[in-house]
Amino acid sequence: MNVLTPPLHRGMMELERSAFKKVISTLVIKVPTKKVGIFMKTFDEDLFNQPRTRNVLPDPESKETKLIILRTDLEKIDDLPKEKIDMIKEQGLSTFKHEIEFDYNFWTTEQILHAVMPEDAQDIPSSFTQIGHIAHMNLRESYYPWKKLIAQVILDKNKNITTVVNKVDSIDTTFRFFKMEVLAGEDNLIAEVKESGCKFKFDFSKVYWNSRLHTEHDRLVQLFKKNEYVCDVFAGVGPFALPAAKKGAIVYANDLNPSSHEWMKENIKANKIKSGIYPYNMDGREFIRQAVKDLQATSKNEWKTFDHFVMNLPATAIDFLDTFRGLYHDQKHLYDTRAKLPMIHCHCFTKSTDAMQDITERVGTIMGGKPDPLKTTLHWVRNVAPKKDMYCISFPLSSELAFAAPNKYNFKKKKVLQPPN
Ligand SMILES: C[S@@+](CC[C@H](N)C(=O)[O-])C[C@H]1O[C@@H](n2cnc3c(N)ncnc32)[C@H](O)[C@@H]1O
Repeated sequence: MNVLTPPLHRGMMELERSAFKKVISTLVIKVPTKKVGIFMKTFDEDLFNQPRTRNVLPDPESKETKLIILRTDLEKIDDLPKEKIDMIKEQGLSTFKHEIEFDYNFWTTEQILHAVMPEDAQDIPSSFTQIGHIAHMNLRESYYPWKKLIAQVILDKNKNITTVVNKVDSIDTTFRFFKMEVLAGEDNLIAEVKESGCKFKFDFSKVYWNSRLHTEHDRLVQLFKKNEYVCDVFAGVGPFALPAAKKGAIVYANDLNPSSHEWMKENIKANKIKSGIYPYNMDGREFIRQAVKDLQATSKNEWKTFDHFVMNLPATAIDFLDTFRGLYHDQKHLYDTRAKLPMIHCHCFTKSTDAMQDITERVGTIMGGKPDPLKTTLHWVRNVAPKKDMYCISFPLSSELAFAAPNKYNFKKKKVLQPPN
């Protein structure tokens, strides 16, 4: 039975830490230190046994003895079974009531918030995501009256958090960062995090960062090999691009958000990546074409292509796939030569129960041809809302699409694909 709960302060709107003191009076047995083990075993079912507390305390009066704390519903020693009473008497031990004090520092965030929120409050808002020193909350409006108190408790209870922010309004639609309000702690939104062996620094109020994507970042980076060419179309501050470059891939990394671009450059320096990564700051469509030209320009005779395109802008990345139609039209003489073409890793959302069917259909409509089912994989990344999941579809760009005439296709009319002319 858990008897330890803080005093209730329904209606407290400003945190008063001193109001959370509580004194518990409970029965103890004073036992010689060397006999503590045997008594603990015998009184196993009668111990205090409360979360985050000890059943044995030092005796303030002597180093030779300890205090074994018994459960709080025992008023007097006579409430114990006879054989246990006899054991205490035989050993000549003393028993008495002992007061234990608990204060604000003892209670958990959830306990404090339960004590101040209305009794019928559901889903007490104690959870947050951590980005470096920042705790990022997404509070329901009904909890706004307590937002400062909630944030202060989170700040107090998490020693490595020094700023607590709450998401306000919706996400910036283009650059995918959140508008946020600092609720407690210092007004410092420059976060520093470590991921995939790299350190990242960025202004969390100006760029996109999501720590929940770290396994997805790792997964794709593991696919990239040394000396492969990787084109990261929506690179943010570089969580795919930097670890890929660090392992020896040659990375062209773009983001339209000037802040993401600047922080990516800072991070390249901070991680001492001296070569093999080229940051761009332009629209994704324009970048795909530019990066292809720039990579080709590094070679006089040999045709060079990227091995991988990464497209992590799940809300709209599929719409950018039309850029691949005819991307290599100027090299159409290579059609039929089995020239190696890039893999496209495109992130997207779906609410469909048949994710593969829905996503390949959408990809096919935009590109003017469905990806080859035998070479296509669909990886579930995470659930983002009830019945809405994020996926990554990976497929090789087909030569029919890569070398096609770019402007002769209107994807909305879903024309049948023809070989390049
Ligand atoms: C979902 S975030 C992903 C960032 C990073 N790849 C990651 O995994 O954390 C998408 C990024 O695309 C950028 N972006 C949005 N629209 C863009 C566009 N039209 N062209 C290039 N980048 C764009 C945003 O600024 C944002 O940084």
